[in-house]
Amino acid sequence: MSAQIIDGKAIAATIRGEIKAEVDAMQTRYSQVPGLATVLVGERKDSQTYVRMKKKACAEVGIASFSHDLPADISQADLLKVVQDLNAHPEVNGILVQLPLPDHINEEEILSAISLTKDVDGFHPINIGRLSMKRRAPLFVPCTPKGCIELLDRSGVEIEGRRAVVLGRSNIVGLPVAMLLLHRNATLTICHSRTQNLPQIVREADILIAAVGRPEMVKGDWIKPGAVVIDVGMNAVDDPAAAKGYRLVGDVAFDEAREVASAITPVPGGVGPMTIAMLLRNTLDGAKRTLE
Ligand code: GUN
Repeated sequence: MSAQIIDGKAIAATIRGEIKAEVDAMQTRYSQVPGLATVLVGERKDSQTYVRMKKKACAEVGIASFSHDLPADISQADLLKVVQDLNAHPEVNGILVQLPLPDHINEEEILSAISLTKDVDGFHPINIGRLSMKRRAPLFVPCTPKGCIELLDRSGVEIEGRRAVVLGRSNIVGLPVAMLLLHRNATLTICHSRTQNLPQIVREADILIAAVGRPEMVKGDWIKPGAVVIDVGMNAVDDPAAAKGYRLVGDVAFDEAREVASAITPVPGGVGPMTIAMLLRNTLDGAKRTLE
Protein backbone atom coordinates (compact mmCIF):
# COMPACT_ATOMS: atom_id res chain seq x y z
CA MET A 1 0.00 0.00 0.00
CA SER A 2 1.25 3.46 -0.86
CA ALA A 3 1.45 6.10 1.88
CA GLN A 4 -0.67 9.21 2.16
CA ILE A 5 1.46 12.12 0.93
CA ILE A 6 1.44 14.93 3.48
CA ASP A 7 1.14 18.01 1.27
CA GLY A 8 3.13 20.66 3.11
CA LYS A 9 2.68 23.11 0.29
CA ALA A 10 -1.12 22.95 0.57
CA ILE A 11 -1.12 23.00 4.38
CA ALA A 12 1.26 26.00 4.39
CA ALA A 13 -1.00 27.80 1.89
CA THR A 14 -3.97 27.29 4.22
CA ILE A 15 -1.94 28.68 7.13
CA ARG A 16 -0.79 31.67 5.09
CA GLY A 17 -4.45 32.38 4.31
CA GLU A 18 -5.28 32.31 8.04
CA ILE A 19 -2.38 34.66 8.74
CA LYS A 20 -3.38 37.07 5.97
CA ALA A 21 -6.89 37.34 7.43
CA GLU A 22 -5.42 38.18 10.86
CA VAL A 23 -3.00 40.72 9.38
CA ASP A 24 -5.90 42.38 7.54
CA ALA A 25 -7.89 42.51 10.78
CA MET A 26 -4.91 44.08 12.58
CA GLN A 27 -4.59 46.67 9.84
CA THR A 28 -8.30 47.55 10.16
CA ARG A 29 -8.32 47.67 13.93
CA TYR A 30 -4.93 49.26 14.71
CA SER A 31 -3.83 50.75 11.35
CA GLN A 32 -0.68 48.73 11.77
CA VAL A 33 0.85 45.59 10.24
CA PRO A 34 3.50 43.24 11.65
CA GLY A 35 7.10 43.87 10.59
CA LEU A 36 9.94 41.39 10.03
CA ALA A 37 13.60 42.41 9.74
CA THR A 38 15.87 40.04 7.82
CA VAL A 39 19.60 40.14 8.44
CA LEU A 40 21.72 38.42 5.80
CA VAL A 41 25.50 38.40 6.15
CA GLY A 42 27.60 37.51 3.10
CA GLU A 43 26.64 36.04 -0.26
CA ARG A 44 25.84 32.38 0.28
CA LYS A 45 23.47 31.43 -2.52
CA ASP A 46 21.32 29.16 -0.33
CA SER A 47 20.93 31.83 2.38
CA GLN A 48 20.10 34.47 -0.25
CA THR A 49 17.40 32.19 -1.66
CA TYR A 50 15.90 31.47 1.78
CA VAL A 51 15.81 35.16 2.72
CA ARG A 52 14.28 36.12 -0.62
CA MET A 53 11.55 33.49 -0.14
CA LYS A 54 10.86 34.74 3.39
CA LYS A 55 10.49 38.35 2.23
CA LYS A 56 8.21 37.32 -0.65
CA ALA A 57 6.02 35.33 1.74
CA CYS A 58 5.80 38.38 4.06
CA ALA A 59 4.64 40.57 1.19
CA GLU A 60 1.95 38.06 0.20
CA VAL A 61 0.29 38.17 3.63
CA GLY A 62 0.78 41.90 4.22
CA ILE A 63 3.69 41.70 6.69
CA ALA A 64 6.22 44.54 6.18
CA SER A 65 9.82 43.46 5.74
CA PHE A 66 13.01 45.38 6.46
CA SER A 67 16.12 44.05 4.68
CA HIS A 68 19.65 44.26 5.99
CA ASP A 69 22.09 42.70 3.52
CA LEU A 70 25.54 43.01 5.02
CA PRO A 71 29.06 42.26 3.76
CA ALA A 72 30.68 38.93 4.69
CA ASP A 73 33.53 40.77 6.46
CA ILE A 74 31.29 42.85 8.75
CA SER A 75 32.73 43.07 12.27
CA GLN A 76 31.10 41.51 15.31
CA ALA A 77 30.56 45.00 16.76
CA ASP A 78 28.87 46.33 13.63
CA LEU A 79 26.57 43.31 13.35
CA LEU A 80 25.69 43.65 17.03
CA LYS A 81 24.82 47.28 16.40
CA VAL A 82 22.44 46.30 13.56
CA VAL A 83 20.63 43.90 15.92
CA GLN A 84 20.45 46.49 18.71
CA ASP A 85 19.01 49.10 16.35
CA LEU A 86 16.37 46.60 15.22
CA ASN A 87 15.54 45.82 18.85
CA ALA A 88 14.71 49.51 19.29
CA HIS A 89 12.82 49.87 15.97
CA PRO A 90 9.10 50.26 16.76
CA GLU A 91 7.87 48.84 13.44
CA VAL A 92 9.97 45.68 13.69
CA ASN A 93 8.25 42.84 15.55
CA GLY A 94 10.58 40.07 14.47
CA ILE A 95 14.32 39.84 13.78
CA LEU A 96 15.62 37.02 11.63
CA VAL A 97 19.39 36.60 11.44
CA GLN A 98 19.91 34.04 8.67
CA LEU A 99 22.27 31.23 9.67
CA PRO A 100 25.00 30.16 9.21
CA LEU A 101 27.00 33.31 9.96
CA PRO A 102 30.62 33.65 8.74
CA ASP A 103 33.23 31.88 10.88
CA HIS A 104 34.67 35.06 12.42
CA ILE A 105 31.28 35.97 13.91
CA ASN A 106 30.33 34.74 17.38
CA GLU A 107 26.88 33.39 16.60
CA GLU A 108 25.85 32.87 20.19
CA GLU A 109 26.55 36.48 21.08
CA ILE A 110 24.52 37.73 18.11
CA LEU A 111 21.54 35.47 18.81
CA SER A 112 21.66 36.41 22.51
CA ALA A 113 21.48 40.10 21.59
CA ILE A 114 18.10 39.73 19.85
CA SER A 115 15.29 41.02 22.06
CA LEU A 116 13.38 38.05 23.53
CA THR A 117 10.13 39.61 22.33
CA LYS A 118 11.41 39.80 18.72
CA ASP A 119 13.13 36.41 18.57
CA VAL A 120 10.85 34.97 15.85
CA ASP A 121 13.38 32.22 15.04
CA GLY A 122 13.25 31.07 18.67
CA PHE A 123 17.05 30.68 18.79
CA HIS A 124 17.73 32.98 21.74
CA PRO A 125 19.35 30.88 24.50
CA ILE A 126 16.55 31.81 26.93
CA ASN A 127 13.83 30.74 24.50
CA ILE A 128 15.71 27.49 23.80
CA GLY A 129 16.24 27.00 27.54
CA ARG A 130 12.55 27.44 28.26
CA LEU A 131 11.69 25.05 25.42
CA SER A 132 13.95 22.48 27.06
CA MET A 133 12.27 22.60 30.48
CA LYS A 134 8.89 21.48 31.76
CA ARG A 135 6.20 24.10 32.24
CA ARG A 136 8.29 26.97 30.91
CA ALA A 137 6.79 28.70 27.90
CA PRO A 138 9.25 30.09 25.34
CA LEU A 139 8.02 33.29 23.67
CA PHE A 140 8.77 31.72 20.29
CA VAL A 141 9.38 28.17 19.06
CA PRO A 142 11.86 27.60 16.17
CA CYS A 143 10.08 27.57 12.81
CA THR A 144 11.06 24.25 11.21
CA PRO A 145 10.39 22.17 14.36
CA LYS A 146 7.09 23.99 14.89
CA GLY A 147 6.22 23.29 11.23
CA CYS A 148 6.89 19.54 11.71
CA ILE A 149 4.44 19.38 14.63
CA GLU A 150 1.87 21.44 12.75
CA LEU A 151 2.09 18.97 9.83
CA LEU A 152 1.42 16.07 12.20
CA ASP A 153 -1.49 17.89 13.88
CA ARG A 154 -3.12 19.00 10.66
CA SER A 155 -2.78 15.49 9.23
CA GLY A 156 -4.56 14.01 12.25
CA VAL A 157 -1.51 12.12 13.54
CA GLU A 158 -1.69 11.27 17.25
CA ILE A 159 1.60 12.07 19.04
CA GLU A 160 0.87 11.27 22.68
CA GLY A 161 2.21 7.94 23.84
CA ARG A 162 3.74 7.02 20.51
CA ARG A 163 7.34 6.15 19.72
CA ALA A 164 9.06 9.12 18.06
CA VAL A 165 12.56 8.87 16.66
CA VAL A 166 14.44 12.04 15.73
CA LEU A 167 17.38 11.48 13.42
CA GLY A 168 19.75 14.44 13.85
CA ARG A 169 20.61 16.73 16.74
CA SER A 170 21.14 20.19 15.27
CA ASN A 171 20.29 23.34 17.21
CA ILE A 172 17.98 24.43 14.39
CA VAL A 173 15.91 21.26 13.96
CA GLY A 174 16.85 18.02 15.73
CA LEU A 175 17.11 19.22 19.33
CA PRO A 176 14.12 21.58 19.36
CA VAL A 177 11.80 19.16 17.51
CA ALA A 178 12.75 16.49 20.05
CA MET A 179 11.72 18.83 22.89
CA LEU A 180 8.39 19.57 21.20
CA LEU A 181 7.64 15.85 20.79
CA LEU A 182 8.47 15.29 24.45
CA HIS A 183 6.13 18.11 25.49
CA ARG A 184 3.44 16.34 23.49
CA ASN A 185 4.07 13.14 25.47
CA ALA A 186 5.78 11.09 22.76
CA THR A 187 8.29 8.48 23.88
CA LEU A 188 11.43 9.90 22.39
CA THR A 189 14.69 8.58 20.97
CA ILE A 190 17.30 10.89 19.45
CA CYS A 191 19.75 9.30 17.00
CA HIS A 192 22.79 10.77 15.30
CA SER A 193 25.92 9.93 13.31
CA ARG A 194 27.46 7.91 16.16
CA THR A 195 24.36 5.87 16.95
CA GLN A 196 24.93 2.13 16.73
CA ASN A 197 22.34 -0.13 15.08
CA LEU A 198 20.69 2.92 13.53
CA PRO A 199 18.30 1.06 11.17
CA GLN A 200 17.06 -1.06 14.06
CA ILE A 201 16.29 2.00 16.20
CA VAL A 202 14.65 3.90 13.35
CA ARG A 203 12.47 0.81 12.77
CA GLU A 204 10.92 1.37 16.24
CA ALA A 205 9.48 4.73 15.21
CA ASP A 206 5.75 5.31 14.90
CA ILE A 207 6.78 8.85 14.01
CA LEU A 208 10.14 9.46 12.33
CA ILE A 209 11.62 12.95 11.97
CA ALA A 210 14.62 12.77 9.63
CA ALA A 211 16.92 15.79 9.94
CA VAL A 212 20.49 14.64 9.34
CA GLY A 213 21.25 16.29 6.01
CA ARG A 214 22.35 13.07 4.25
CA PRO A 215 20.67 12.44 0.89
CA GLU A 216 18.31 9.43 0.97
CA MET A 217 20.10 7.87 3.93
CA VAL A 218 16.98 6.30 5.43
CA LYS A 219 16.01 3.26 3.35
CA GLY A 220 12.57 1.74 2.96
CA ASP A 221 13.42 -1.25 5.13
CA TRP A 222 14.38 1.09 8.03
CA ILE A 223 10.75 2.19 8.27
CA LYS A 224 8.22 0.48 10.53
CA PRO A 225 5.14 -0.49 8.48
CA GLY A 226 2.49 2.18 9.03
CA ALA A 227 4.91 4.79 10.44
CA VAL A 228 4.52 8.50 9.75
CA VAL A 229 7.66 10.01 8.18
CA ILE A 230 8.52 13.71 8.31
CA ASP A 231 11.55 14.38 6.09
CA VAL A 232 13.31 17.64 6.93
CA GLY A 233 16.25 16.93 4.60
CA MET A 234 16.90 19.30 1.70
CA ASN A 235 19.90 17.93 -0.19
CA ALA A 236 21.01 18.91 -3.68
CA VAL A 237 22.26 15.91 -5.68
CA ASP A 238 23.76 16.04 -9.19
CA ASP A 239 21.26 15.19 -11.91
CA PRO A 240 22.36 15.89 -15.49
CA ALA A 241 18.77 15.29 -16.66
CA ALA A 242 17.46 18.18 -14.54
CA ALA A 243 17.34 21.70 -15.98
CA LYS A 244 19.55 23.09 -13.20
CA GLY A 245 21.90 20.09 -13.22
CA TYR A 246 20.76 19.02 -9.75
CA ARG A 247 17.62 18.00 -7.91
CA LEU A 248 16.56 18.19 -4.29
CA VAL A 249 16.12 15.04 -2.26
CA GLY A 250 15.34 14.44 1.39
CA ASP A 251 17.09 12.35 4.03
CA VAL A 252 14.67 9.50 3.26
CA ALA A 253 14.62 7.34 0.12
CA PHE A 254 11.12 8.50 -0.75
CA ASP A 255 10.08 5.91 -3.35
CA GLU A 256 11.02 3.03 -1.05
CA ALA A 257 9.65 4.61 2.12
CA ARG A 258 6.26 5.49 0.66
CA GLU A 259 5.59 1.76 0.13
CA VAL A 260 6.01 1.08 3.85
CA ALA A 261 4.90 4.25 5.70
CA SER A 262 1.27 5.24 6.29
CA ALA A 263 2.06 8.91 5.60
CA ILE A 264 5.15 10.75 4.40
CA THR A 265 6.22 14.28 3.46
CA PRO A 266 7.74 14.81 -0.01
CA VAL A 267 10.90 16.84 -0.73
CA PRO A 268 10.40 19.47 -1.93
CA GLY A 269 6.86 20.44 -0.89
CA GLY A 270 6.77 18.96 2.60
CA VAL A 271 8.48 20.64 5.54
CA GLY A 272 10.09 23.50 3.54
CA PRO A 273 6.96 25.59 2.98
CA MET A 274 5.98 25.07 6.62
CA THR A 275 9.16 26.74 7.92
CA ILE A 276 8.21 29.97 6.18
CA ALA A 277 4.56 29.74 7.25
CA MET A 278 5.68 29.36 10.88
CA LEU A 279 7.99 32.38 10.57
CA LEU A 280 5.01 34.45 9.42
CA ARG A 281 2.94 33.02 12.30
CA ASN A 282 5.64 33.90 14.85
CA THR A 283 6.00 37.43 13.45
CA LEU A 284 2.23 37.97 13.62
CA ASP A 285 2.06 36.55 17.16
CA GLY A 286 4.91 38.85 18.23
CA ALA A 287 3.08 41.86 16.81
CA LYS A 288 -0.16 40.84 18.50
CA ARG A 289 1.62 40.48 21.83
CA THR A 290 3.01 44.00 21.48
CA LEU A 291 -0.33 45.53 20.50
CA GLU A 292 -2.61 43.66 22.85
N1 GUN B 1 19.33 28.50 8.43
C1 GUN B 1 18.74 27.31 8.18
N2 GUN B 1 17.51 27.26 8.72
C2 GUN B 1 17.31 28.45 9.32
C3 GUN B 1 16.21 29.02 10.05
O1 GUN B 1 15.17 28.41 10.27
N3 GUN B 1 16.41 30.27 10.48
C4 GUN B 1 17.55 30.97 10.27
N4 GUN B 1 17.64 32.19 10.76
N5 GUN B 1 18.58 30.48 9.63
C5 GUN B 1 18.46 29.23 9.14
